[in-house]
Amino acid sequence: MKKIRGVLGNSYYSKNFDEIKYMHNTLICIDEMGIIKKIICEDDIDFNQKCKEYEQSGQLKVLEENQIILPGFVDLHIHAPQWAQSGTALDQPLEVWLNEYTFPLEAKFKDLEFAKEVYDDVVEVTLKNGTTSAVYFATVDKEPSMLLAKICGEKGQRGFVGKVAMDDPLGCPVYYKDETAEESIKTTEEFIQEVISIQDNYKQKVYPVITPRFIPTCTNESLKGLGELAKTYDVHIQTHVSESDWAHGFVKEKMGKNDAIAINDFGLMNDKTMVAHAPFLEEEDVKIMAEKQSTIAHCPLSNAYFANSALPVKDFTNKGINIGLATDISGGYSPSMYSAIRQAVVSSKMLNDGVNPALNADVRGRKDSSLTLNNALYLATVAGGKALKMPIGKFETGYIFDAQIVDTKENIPQFYKEKHEEDLLHKVLLLAQTNNIKEVWVQGEKTDIK
Ligand code: GUN
Ligand code: FE
Repeated sequence: MKKIRGVLGNSYYSKNFDEIKYMHNTLICIDEMGIIKKIICEDDIDFNQKCKEYEQSGQLKVLEENQIILPGFVDLHIHAPQWAQSGTALDQPLEVWLNEYTFPLEAKFKDLEFAKEVYDDVVEVTLKNGTTSAVYFATVDKEPSMLLAKICGEKGQRGFVGKVAMDDPLGCPVYYKDETAEESIKTTEEFIQEVISIQDNYKQKVYPVITPRFIPTCTNESLKGLGELAKTYDVHIQTHVSESDWAHGFVKEKMGKNDAIAINDFGLMNDKTMVAHAPFLEEEDVKIMAEKQSTIAHCPLSNAYFANSALPVKDFTNKGINIGLATDISGGYSPSMYSAIRQAVVSSKMLNDGVNPALNADVRGRKDSSLTLNNALYLATVAGGKALKMPIGKFETGYIFDAQIVDTKENIPQFYKEKHEEDLLHKVLLLAQTNNIKEVWVQGEKTDIK
């Protein structure tokens, strides 16, 4: 059977942080590598001919009447093993949740059968929710982490996967850690090499990520070694930075400097670094992250539970930091980037206006913090692509065709034609559920989600 190379329908994507591009009845032409080679509009002279050509060769996909095409989402921070406990113990403080629930759960992934069961499910569930690229924390153990990389590859999701490095006996439980700093560095290096060795087995590829969990669980020696690996292999880096009052204060005390500065001093802050959370960045931290062109993985749902604050997305964006969006399973309970988009907007409005009615309106909030749905879609798509250094998130020539085909009628009220095209997009962003997502495409290939 011939591969689909032309997709015809109504589509939306983020032109920039504020603006949406709507394309009515437009043909997206995709090459064998999954790259968009041309966009043909209804009134272009070759539109009819090209549609006919694809149709005759059995390579045309025509959207149904109530369907639209949206870009696939980039989840910039998700803990794959924690999917097993999603929805658990979020009323606990971060440090209690980590020690009492999360570390014991992650330690179980040594059992490869258990790991396969959870990892098959998390990759399928996130794909079903429109996540075409995901940046995963796996666990300390290398073998199950490799298994996650292979499962992403086989199921057709673009996985960025990290074996978690954590070796500090003062911050890690005895039953769940790298034995020593050397072990932490050695297994991370082996993991990078092993992922690179299977990378090209999959059309959409799979990528290794250097993953020090966070400074409270890592020794200086291991962080230094991981910084050297970053230089040698030029791969992505992920960690948690200044997430909560506790985490921010703990690192200040341990290192005598702020989280982001320490990460930078170990050679771990560069344009491929994605730090999760980061609401407590101080002025010099913001400056260094902007200078290094690093990214914040904004986890609005998780921040509502653990961060004791909301990320000032607009302020940090205006100061030059790239910010993408993430679920942070299971600090955030929902695997859906639609939920992340919704919470990003809600949290930003609460930050903007403030929430304590005992205060006067003029001192209640942090002005110019509100995000629009358009902003949030940009974070979930184009900004994610920027962090990954890939042409992802737009339907333009040269971009990778990662997409979701969404039904705009199921679960969504439609009693009249919307005044503006964007109104329909906003309804979808706020109301769509998993079963609205009919197809998910990665690198020009339709995945087998059901
Ligand atoms: N800080 C260190 N580890 C974690 C984790 O697994 N989740 C969250 N939210 N924060 C962390
Ligand atoms: Fe996290």
